[in-house]
Amino acid sequence: MADLDVTDIRKDFPILSTTNHGKPLVYLDSAATSQKPLYVINRVSEYYKTFNANIHRGLYELSMKSTEEYQRSKELSAKLINAESYRDIIYCRNTTDAINIVALSWGEPNIGKGDRILITDMEHHSNIVPWLMLAKRKKAILEHARLKDKSFVDMDDFKEKLEHGPKMVAITHASNVLGTINNAKEMARLAHKAGALVLIDAAQSVPHMPVDVKDIDCDFLAFSSHKMLGPAGVGVLYGKDQLLESITPAIVGSDMIRSVTFDSADWNELPWKFESGTPNMEGGVGLAAAIEYLERIGMRRIREHEMKIARYALKRLEEVKGVKVYGPGVRDADKRGGVVSFNIAGAHPHDVATIFDSEGIAIRAGHHCAMPLVNQVLDETSVARMSFYLYNMEEEVDRAVDAISKVRKVLRIKE
Ligand SMILES: Cc1ncc(COP(=O)(O)O)c(C=O)c1O
Repeated sequence: MADLDVTDIRKDFPILSTTNHGKPLVYLDSAATSQKPLYVINRVSEYYKTFNANIHRGLYELSMKSTEEYQRSKELSAKLINAESYRDIIYCRNTTDAINIVALSWGEPNIGKGDRILITDMEHHSNIVPWLMLAKRKKAILEHARLKDKSFVDMDDFKEKLEHGPKMVAITHASNVLGTINNAKEMARLAHKAGALVLIDAAQSVPHMPVDVKDIDCDFLAFSSHKMLGPAGVGVLYGKDQLLESITPAIVGSDMIRSVTFDSADWNELPWKFESGTPNMEGGVGLAAAIEYLERIGMRRIREHEMKIARYALKRLEEVKGVKVYGPGVRDADKRGGVVSFNIAGAHPHDVATIFDSEGIAIRAGHHCAMPLVNQVLDETSVARMSFYLYNMEEEVDRAVDAISKVRKVLRIKE
């Protein structure tokens, strides 16, 4: 497989040739949100300039074009994750919204007193809090599978907790702190055997690697456009057709209605049944462009590139004294994505991020919306994180590693 031509790819992203504090920008925060190529920017602009109209409502050409493009976006999303049909693709605001839709629409009628929901210790708040609130409302029990070596889901503990008979198993595909990529297929197989439904939080996997919902055999899967070169404000919820058919939407009104009287209402067909009100049409069009761009490069090649750059970063960080790296090590680089969290002994991660910023390098520091993982499992208040995408280069890792010396100098940390 040919390597990515990153120099060429970078030309597509105008922001990457800007400066930060007078230095060429090094953007290492794509796990938070990705940068956007001109192809996406232009497509959104074209939407506004040439076919902006509300979907599904107009009997005129503009509205038909807008409807067609919005639906085409769903067809591309379905193809990207190998879903059977665009019917199984619900557009919402983001991953968080998608998980909330499941927790409310499926969870409210299906979770009762004493029922169990199983998550893992490496979840983002978006895949904890909707379940926690549901469990509190229903007097249900939220369990979390432990980690092994602070890096991987402890499969013995996972299996033990499956024996408690959870009704829902909601797991992240790739951790936004550890970088770990979970074996979603095996976890889904075990969860189904135990009688649970399976939701995959794919916010950090779909943008970075091939993901196949049929192969994983998950019941639900969620991801966000803004993390995969698309506009913010569009999230994707995939659900198995029959399951979506059987669920009553929690948020109702407008376009999701087939017919309504003052006494009753019934729902539109899938996927529209879950999309109340005017959707983010320009966002959908922008996401379609992002998927086209990603597919042209190839998800497998993107994955290979990120694995290479993460391995390089892990190796470089290993050479630096006093730097602690979290998640799987270099030897397990094939089990992790392009997210590398670290701390420098004697330096607060917020100071690290600020000093990196003065060198033109954008990284993130904090609990990364995974407080139980960072505080309770890693026993830290905060960690610094570099995250890579298809446009990052090894030279940028070098600049980040060089910035560690500046951190030491500014904070007067002895070697
Ligand atoms: C693993 C994971 N899940 C969920 C989310 C939430 O995504 P969003 O903010 O787009 O809803 C994130 C965001 O960083 C994430 O990394």
